[in-house]
Amino acid sequence: METKGMPGDKGGLEKQALMDEIRRLKKEKNAVLLGHYYQVPEIQEIADFVGDSLALAQQAKNTTADIILFAGVHFMAETAKILNPDKKVLIPDLTAGCSLADACKAGDLKAMKAEYPDHMVLSYVNCSAEVKCLSDLICTSGNALKLVKSLLADQKILFVPDRNLGGYINRMTGRNMKLWPGCCEVHEMLKAENVLKLKQAHPEAKLIAHPECNQAVLEVADFVGSTAAMLKFIKEDASPAYVVATETGILHAMGKTCPEKTFYIAGADGSCGCNDCPHMKKNTLEKIYRCLMDESPEILLSDEVIRQAAKPIEKMLRMS
Ligand code: 13P
Ligand code: SF4
Repeated sequence: METKGMPGDKGGLEKQALMDEIRRLKKEKNAVLLGHYYQVPEIQEIADFVGDSLALAQQAKNTTADIILFAGVHFMAETAKILNPDKKVLIPDLTAGCSLADACKAGDLKAMKAEYPDHMVLSYVNCSAEVKCLSDLICTSGNALKLVKSLLADQKILFVPDRNLGGYINRMTGRNMKLWPGCCEVHEMLKAENVLKLKQAHPEAKLIAHPECNQAVLEVADFVGSTAAMLKFIKEDASPAYVVATETGILHAMGKTCPEKTFYIAGADGSCGCNDCPHMKKNTLEKIYRCLMDESPEILLSDEVIRQAAKPIEKMLRMS
């Protein structure tokens, strides 16, 4: 992308000035900036609202802004568009995808549905709009357990696309949901032996993990929950330190929530905390500025996709 003349360029305004410009543009255009906890700190600082996938979807539904600028990944901005067909929804980088969304193509899900006609399709929000169109209900990591518990005990369920979150829910509820074999490339890298090594090095720390982690990590965790649930946990829990098994961006919000506590991010190889999501980290202040200036890239979906995909998302929001 052409970046010439942008604030933040060599010879241009510094980072603070770039943030001021973004603030000015947001006001001028009545735009709201929604940011996920996995964004870099400076984006979290400039966002009007920072949250997990569930809170961001709820926020997107309730906004009165004319423009929603989504600092997250593509499926999140799509969800915001589905909930706000009449608003302009922007994303700083259209290529910010997700390995979970990529793992489940609509055509493959259609074939699977034909194989399991008596199963309802419960899809994790980390999926494409086309997959949402084929789903009966959407969930996030923040409400998946609650939603599944509220379904009839004999309801057969096909859970897509995260086998780790689905497996966790099966273990917590005693269900036998059929699981799609997708996973998050970032959480899947975290290995129980490395996480435990870090915990042994810091015996005063509790292990908190996102349910996108594999079973071995989840089984040794003291607490499992979405990004927002982890933040709530550290606030209410008495422990002075935590080993954190999720994406690095969460540390910013954790440090702000509990500045007196210590956080050790669990890294893929046990020695470093380099588990940044390559998709989430495609967003930068420069791209946000350019996106607001140009009102592009924009999320565009057909009326039919919006109509179909809205049904299971709206149902989730009513049940949450
Ligand atoms: P939550 O926002 O629900 O914690 O999910 C994390 C995630 O993977 C977003 O991509
Ligand atoms: Fe997808 Fe994982 Fe990145 Fe979240 S952290 S956007 S689930 S690849």
